Amino acid sequence: MPDPTPVLEIRDLHKAYGSLEVLKGVDLSARQGQVISLIGSSGSGKSTLLRCCNLLEDSQAGDVVFEGDPVRWRGEGLGRHPADPRQVVRIRTNLSMVFQQFNLWSHLTVLQNVMEAPVQVLGREPAEVEAKARDYLDKVGIGDKADRWPSELSGGQQQRAAIARALCMEPRALLFDEPTSALDPELEQEVVRVIRALAEEGRTMLLVTHDMNMARDCSDHVIFLHKGKIEEEGAPAALFGQPKSERLRGFLSATAA
Ligand SMILES: Nc1ncnc2c1ncn2[C@@H]1O[C@H](COP(=O)(O)OP(=O)(O)OP(=O)(O)O)[C@@H](O)[C@H]1O
Ligand SMILES: [Mg+2]
Repeated sequence: MPDPTPVLEIRDLHKAYGSLEVLKGVDLSARQGQVISLIGSSGSGKSTLLRCCNLLEDSQAGDVVFEGDPVRWRGEGLGRHPADPRQVVRIRTNLSMVFQQFNLWSHLTVLQNVMEAPVQVLGREPAEVEAKARDYLDKVGIGDKADRWPSELSGGQQQRAAIARALCMEPRALLFDEPTSALDPELEQEVVRVIRALAEEGRTMLLVTHDMNMARDCSDHVIFLHKGKIEEEGAPAALFGQPKSERLRGFLSATAA
């Protein structure tokens, strides 16, 4: 039986940048194997929410709970920070992030990029990590590019290298922030295929995307954020098929190609 404890839970999360309130009480729960898409207009707080999940950003109120273990905080309000650095490392290394701009190291080969964090951060044995890194590069379809520099790869190949790098951490969940937005349409599809395959093999994922087809095809739950609050959420068929809120209807008609 699958473990009923969610991999990640966010409860009533509040986040401001100075006086700008960006998240106004957001709840989210990702079970093992669940793929949750976050959609919404620019500035609605999608990236901020993702960054609060793996503690790249502080939040002022509410809980972040990783595998049933709530983040311990010290201080209050804008002075609230995680209290336990080891807990932060555990959460960050288990919630691997894939960014819009790939963020590969240009001075390292593709293989070295994929091996870097497991060896340097987790202290794993290089020979073992190399074998895994090559497997993950094969899995995303660029095994033949292992010894190239990132600058020698297309955008779609670089993003797939970034996905292999995230996988090589063997995290409990993957967090994607608009992984296809920097790509031309034909390269976008190579990355969508990799993400769909990861969804099908039961990976837990949070996916911020402007691509409604990807949200519909890859996820089993979709959250529509509007001005820092969840305006509507549900299964993709219901959310895209029969949107209830006027705002979601407006958003979907504006994003339809
Ligand atoms: N580091 C920051 N300092 C101050 N304000 C910020 C910072 N990062 C984001 N914001 C503000 O927080 C709000 C939410 O931003 P966020 O990046 O989460 O939106 P988003 O939904 O990801 O938008 P997009 O679709 O454009 O990526 C915006 O008003 C933005 O200007
Ligand atoms: Mg964003």
